Formats: sequence, structure tokens, C-alpha cells
Amino acid sequence: MESFLIKGGVPLHGDIVVSGSKNAALPIMAAALLTDEPCVIRRVPDLSDTRFMLKILESLGARAEFAGGAATLHARKIQGYADYELVRKMRGSICIAGPLLARLRKARVSLPGGCVIGARPINLHLKGFESLGAKIKIEGGYVEASAKKLVGNSVFLGGRAGPTVLGTANVMMAATLGEGITVIESAACEPEVMDLAKFLNAMGAQISGAGSPTITIAGVEKLHGAEHEVIPDRIEAATFLAAAGATNGEVTLRGACAEHLRAVVDKLNEAGVAVERRGANLVARRKGKLKPADITTLPYAGFPTDVQAQMMSLLALAPGISIITERIFESRFMHVSELARLGADIEIEGPSAIVKGGRPLSGAPVMASDLRASAALVIAGLAAKGETQVNRIYHLDRGYEQMDAKLQKLGARIERVEER
Ligand code: EPU
Repeated sequence: MESFLIKGGVPLHGDIVVSGSKNAALPIMAAALLTDEPCVIRRVPDLSDTRFMLKILESLGARAEFAGGAATLHARKIQGYADYELVRKMRGSICIAGPLLARLRKARVSLPGGCVIGARPINLHLKGFESLGAKIKIEGGYVEASAKKLVGNSVFLGGRAGPTVLGTANVMMAATLGEGITVIESAACEPEVMDLAKFLNAMGAQISGAGSPTITIAGVEKLHGAEHEVIPDRIEAATFLAAAGATNGEVTLRGACAEHLRAVVDKLNEAGVAVERRGANLVARRKGKLKPADITTLPYAGFPTDVQAQMMSLLALAPGISIITERIFESRFMHVSELARLGADIEIEGPSAIVKGGRPLSGAPVMASDLRASAALVIAGLAAKGETQVNRIYHLDRGYEQMDAKLQKLGARIERVEER
């Protein structure tokens, strides 16, 4: 297994290009299953998760090529069975269920199971499929959805923690080839859902309202091939903005989308990191001392759960008390005990982490537990004195394209090494 070896204390300086969004690319790649014509998807980040999605699509019978950031997908003839061995490795793969149900009227997909950030139910996805007329059976760890026909309906997708991102994507995709009008209420408003709707419309779907809590889909008989460019990754961008602040550097992100980062930029400002828009770029730099800030994760346009861990590393450096409340996933604090190994003083109280910031951080070996927790450890390691070894970085490789190369370009002393 590989690790990152970081010699901390170097302010990051320079510019990097933001990659395409992982969480937009995954459902968009799955959407290529909706047509028997080829689709070309550009700015797909080269990650283990996107490579894995290519494998899943191939296992369903699609032809998949990936070169120069463009995925060419051709699902001329497909079958609707997705094996446990594939699905369990990436929870995001559940978004193949909607397209399979729409195209074949039948999907048999392994239940993805939970993961380290908490239980990850799919009850809302299934509720949506049922509203469209699908019969759902759960047997032997698989969910089987089948329908003679899918008929438009009104579907409410709000859950315990608000809307569901991939649930909205799944129901939206299933409804594109249904009969009549589907209205999704309490739909997820994330930019990744909007990007998917844009691609589906380019394929001939009739979707309006994506990006708002009410999405309307008028079913069509057939979808055709299309080309699309994936939006920039707002979570990757936020990670580098936080890293610039944590190391007291100045970083320019080329091609970042400021509109998608409003909540993050607002909290960075509060914490003492100025983020300035310069044309299509965002520039982050410290304005004096770091300051504490209270953060609550919320569905979009609120503060994203996927940036909670990275922000915690930044706030661990800010003298004073910050309270970070996680409202989307129930156990997304795995990074807390690892940050403590670097000297951070953080206590967990129910859904909140109380960060007593300002203690000096010093390098230590730490263990990555999930994708965003790993990014938080890298940020803390970059800011800490001495050497930090972040183990199990395969978690990072799932969602950050060439993170080590990008950080090296910004002057960080970071190397990929075999775990010691
Ligand atoms: N939920 C339900 N029932 C459902 C589905 C979700 O109760 O049927 C709950 C979840 O347990 C959670 C909340 O609703 O409490 C939100 O989950 P959501 O369904 O929105 O998450 P997701 O669609 O499975 C995507 C991203 C995650 C990101 C979340 C929230 C992808 C591939 N994944 O997951 O990304 O954290 O939305 O924004 O798009 C990451 O990139 O590191 C990551 C985990």
C-alpha cells in the first residue's frame, strides 16, 4: 500500500487547474446506459472511482474507452445485472439502477451496504422507483426493480437528512424514459444534479427545474448519444483553498466555479482566508491570523459535508473555539482521532466537533479512513512541523486527481512512498 510522506511547514504558492467533478462524472457516465448510441464525456477526472465506473459499465455490456480525459461510452446492447463484487467497492455505483430500469425495465443491482461515514440507505431511491410503477424486491443482498412500464408521478424525495443527491439522479434518469410527467419534490439542488440534467437534456430528455427543489421530467420515448463536459470539482477546489489558508500561502485555482463554492468561501473568509475571483480563477490567501468559525453541514447551497473534514484541519490552526456540526452523515468524524495524533485538540459531542484551535501541529504517522478524511490529514500534514506519513492513500486516489503532483507544483514537499 502507498502513503504520502509530507514534510510540513511550507506555504503553498502557485497555480493549479481544477479537475472535473467526480460526483458529477459518475452519474453522467451511468446515464450513457440510457441510449444505444455512443456518448462522449469530457473532463472526466482520472480517478480510481471513475475507472471503476468504466469497469461496471463494461460488465453490463457497454464499450468504454478513456483517453485524454474523455470517456467514450457505447451501451449498444446491455444487460441489467450488477454484481456485488463490483457494487460493494463503490457506493456511487448505485446510480446505474435508474438508467437500467429505464432502458431495460429491469435492474438487478447489489445493495451497496454502509461505509465508514455512516449508514447509506437507498430507501428514497427505491421509493422513487416505486412511485414510477416499479416493483421492488430485495433478495440475497440484491435489489431487483422491474416494471412493465414506468409512468410519471409526483415523487417526494426528502429524507431524514434532507434530499438525496444520487437518489434524485436515479429517479430523474428513470423518469426520462417513462410515460408522462414526473415531478420530483424535495429534489437535491447540488450542481452535480444540474450537470446530469444538462447531459440528459443534450441526449433528448425534457427536464426542467434541476438545481431547484422541484424537478419536472416529461418522459420521452428514446434518448440519443450526446457530448458533454463535466463541471469543475467544487470539493477538490475547496480542499486546495483550505490548504492555501492552512499553510499561509497563496494559491490560484484555474477553472474553479465560484458560484458552486459560495458557502465554502463564506466560511473561509470568516476563518481569515480571503478568496478573490480573478476572471475564471479563484485566488486564496490569508488575511492576517486565522480565526475560529462555526460550521454546520447542510444540503446545497449550505456548507458541503464533503468539505467538513478539510475545514476542520484549517480551524484546528485557528486560535479559539470552532464548533463543526455534521448534519448529513452520522459518523463522519473519523479524522478527529487522527488529527489528535498531530496535536489537534478536538472533542466530539453528539453531531458536533468542538475544535479548540491554535495548538501547534507536529508531524506523525496517521491513517486515512475515507476520501475526505484523508484530504484533511494531508492539509494538517502540510501545516504541521516535521514529517507526516498519511497511510492508505488509496482512499485519496478514489477522488483526487494527481493530488501529490498538484501539491508538488505548489511547492509542497510531498512524496508517494510504499507504506513503511
Ligand atoms: N439517505 C437516506 N435514504 C436514501 C439516500 C440517502 O436516508 O435513500 C440519507 C443518507 O444516509 C444521508 C443523506 O440522506 O444521511 C444524504 O445522502 P445522499 O443520498 O445525498 O448521498 P449520496 O448521494 O449517496 C453523494 C456524494 C457524496 C456526498 C453526498 C452528500 C456521490 C457519488 N456521492 O452521496 O460524496 O457526501 O452526496 O452531498 O455523488 C464524497 O465524494 O466523498 C462523497 C461521500
